[in-house]
Amino acid sequence: MPRFQRIVILTGAGLSAESGLGTFRDKDGLWTKYDLNEVATPEGFARGPDKVLAFYNMRKKVHADVAPNAAHRALARLEEAYPGKVLTITQNIDELHELAGSRNLIHMHGEIYKALCAHCGHRRPWREDFSTTRSCQGCNACGGLRPDVVWFGEMPYRMEEIYAALSRCDLFVSIGTSGTVYPAAGFVIDALQAGAHTVELNLEPSEGVTHFAEARHGKATEIVPAFVEELLGGGHSA
Ligand code: OAD
Repeated sequence: MPRFQRIVILTGAGLSAESGLGTFRDKDGLWTKYDLNEVATPEGFARGPDKVLAFYNMRKKVHADVAPNAAHRALARLEEAYPGKVLTITQNIDELHELAGSRNLIHMHGEIYKALCAHCGHRRPWREDFSTTRSCQGCNACGGLRPDVVWFGEMPYRMEEIYAALSRCDLFVSIGTSGTVYPAAGFVIDALQAGAHTVELNLEPSEGVTHFAEARHGKATEIVPAFVEELLGGGHSA
């Protein structure tokens, strides 16, 4: 019998950093170069849809050239090989978890390769560039197609499922996230209330590091595979 039966993993931009995708708040992070109020809020989209779509088209080009790294692969291997439940909740909008093989996965902040109609809520796969001239197949309205990503002020996806999983988990692992954006930053508290062991794996101590029972700091491609091997070997002891 493994020590943990139900593992919940939360991932953030730091997990994909070594694949070549920038983070948000590190030096040179996206939010040091762009005003998030302009490019990542519904109000910004209403004011300047072309500017917002150009920002996501730029990000799509960067995403097209990246591949999963050793940390994504280790988490997929954990899901496949662990003799208990493993759920990965990602704040990332890239598809690197899927490409690595993770299947029990929640994209709480949406996905860059999907479009959402701002008028009717219709969602569909969308790999091409976004444009204000494209109409939605659901309602045929023009100008409403936007990336299916959660902006500031919007509710992340599948929160009921997430809170249900947190309330039942016995191990919660937070990887590559600064712990500054809620509700994700508060998941560690829900896991603690459920009685779970809590672990942070991050390049440096996050904002919420004091909430974690255990913390390991270093590059995701090094510390995540090592942690996964411990779990699979039954050797993890806090
Ligand atoms: P942040 O940019 O806020 O934080 C990234 C974290 O990853 C930092 O704590 C870094 O120290 C760490 N990090 C960087 N490189 C790493 C590496 N190689 N290995 C391990 N850790 C590394 O990104 P998030 O916490 O994911 O939301 O940001 C949360 C949300 O804020 C995003 O989902 C996005 C953003 O605004 C929306 O757009 C709604």
